[in-house]
Amino acid sequence: MLGNFTYCNPTKLYFGRGAVESLKEELQKYGDNVLLVYGGGSIRKNGIYDEVVAVLREAGKKVTEIPGVMPNPTIDKLREGIAIARDNKTDLILAVGGGSVIDYSKALSVSVNCHEDPWDKYFIRFEEPTCETLPVGAVLTMVGTGSEMNSGSVITNPEQKLKIGHVFQDEKIMPRFAILDPGYTLTLPRYQMVSGIYDIFNHICEQYFSGEDDNTSDYISEGLMRSVVHSSRIAVKDPQDYEARSNIMWTATWALNTLIAKGKSTDWMVHMLGQSAGACTNATHGMTLAAVSLPYYRHIMNDGLPKFARFAANVWDIPSEGKTEKEMAEAGLSAMESWMKELGLVMNLTDLGATEEMIPDMVKGTIVLDGGYRKLDGAEIEEIFRESL
Ligand code: NZQ
Ligand code: ZN
Repeated sequence: MLGNFTYCNPTKLYFGRGAVESLKEELQKYGDNVLLVYGGGSIRKNGIYDEVVAVLREAGKKVTEIPGVMPNPTIDKLREGIAIARDNKTDLILAVGGGSVIDYSKALSVSVNCHEDPWDKYFIRFEEPTCETLPVGAVLTMVGTGSEMNSGSVITNPEQKLKIGHVFQDEKIMPRFAILDPGYTLTLPRYQMVSGIYDIFNHICEQYFSGEDDNTSDYISEGLMRSVVHSSRIAVKDPQDYEARSNIMWTATWALNTLIAKGKSTDWMVHMLGQSAGACTNATHGMTLAAVSLPYYRHIMNDGLPKFARFAANVWDIPSEGKTEKEMAEAGLSAMESWMKELGLVMNLTDLGATEEMIPDMVKGTIVLDGGYRKLDGAEIEEIFRESL
C-alpha cells in the first residue's frame, strides 16, 4: 500500500435476527424527541414499523414522523423535513428504510440548524456543515447502498435534472448505530433485491478498478465480490434463503464503509454516469449502474489491463493459460455480463425510460472524476450513454 490514510468508523452495528431489541440500549443515549423517518409504506405492511414503534414507546420517547421519503429523495422533500425537525426540537433522527431514507436523514442532520440553502451548500458547493448536526440512527430494510455505515448522502433536484452525492468528511454524519436484521429484507421485491446486489458489486468495482500498487484493499475486495456472486446465485433461486440474504447484507455494509477505499484513488465513474441517468429518469439506482457498466468498463479496459485480467482470474476463476492479458480482461467482463443477466438486471437505459433526447442533459449532469484508469471527456461520456441506450 503506497498511500497514506486515516481510518475511523464509529458506526455501531447490531446484526442478526431480532437485532431491533438492541435499539432499546441505543435509545437511552439520546433525549426524548425522536424523529422517525421512513419511506412509502413498506414498513407498515411488513410489520417493521410496529416493531420499531413498540421499542420507542417502551423507551418513553416522544415520536414525530416524516413518512413518504421517496426512492431518490428530492430537495423539496428535504426542505419539508427541515421545517418539521426544527419545530420538534429533534434529539435523534431514526431512519427506518433503505439508502434513500438513510441518505435523507443525513441530509436532514446537516441542515436542521443550518440557515443556508442545503442544496447549494452541500450538493453544489460540497461544503462541510458549519452548524450543529443531529445524530442519526438506522434500521436497515433494503440492502445495497452501504448508507448504514458511511457518511454519504445522495439528493435529487428534479428541476435542475441533477442527482448529487456528498460524502461528508466528518464521521459524526455516519449513523451512530445501525440495526441490521437480514430477516427485515425478505419482503423486498425481487427487482429491488437484485438492484441492491448489483449496487454492492459495483461499489466494490469502483474502488478496485484504480491504482497499480499491491494493496490489501484489493484482496479484501476480491473476497467480497466472490461472496456477493456466490450468495446472489442462491438468493435469485430462493429469495427466502436467510443465509444468502445475511451474507448479502453484510457484504453491502463492507463494500462501502470506507475500508476497501483505503490506500486507493478510487474510480466512481459508473456512479457518476448512473446518477446522471437517474436524475433524468428517476430510475432505481442499482439498475442505472447495471445499464452503463459494460459500455463503461469496455471503454476503459485497455487503460487498466493488468487489473481487469486480475479481476478475471481472482473473481471469476478464469484460467489464464493460453490467453493474452487482453483476452483475460475481456473474458472477465464477459463473465460479469453473464452473471448480471442471470440476476435479471436491466442491461440498458432505454428500458429505464431514457431516450436519445435526454443524452445532452445526461452528459451535462455527469461529474467527471479522475481517480480511475481513464479520465473521460464529454465526447466519450456521450458515446458511453449512446452505447447504454
Ligand atoms: O418506500 P418504501 O415503501 O419503504 O419502499 C422501498 C422503496 O420503494 C422498498 N423497500 C425498502 N425496504 C423494503 C422495501 N420493500 C419491501 N420490503 C422491505 N423490507 O425498496 C424501494 C427502494 O428503496 P431505496 O431506499 O430507494 O433503495 P436503496 O437502498 O437502493 O437506496 C437508493 C438511494 O441511495 C443512494 C441512491 O443514489 C439512491 O438515491 N445511494 C446512496 C449511497 C450512500 N449513501 O453511500 C451510495 C449509493 O451508491 C447510492 O448512490
Ligand atoms: Zn451505489
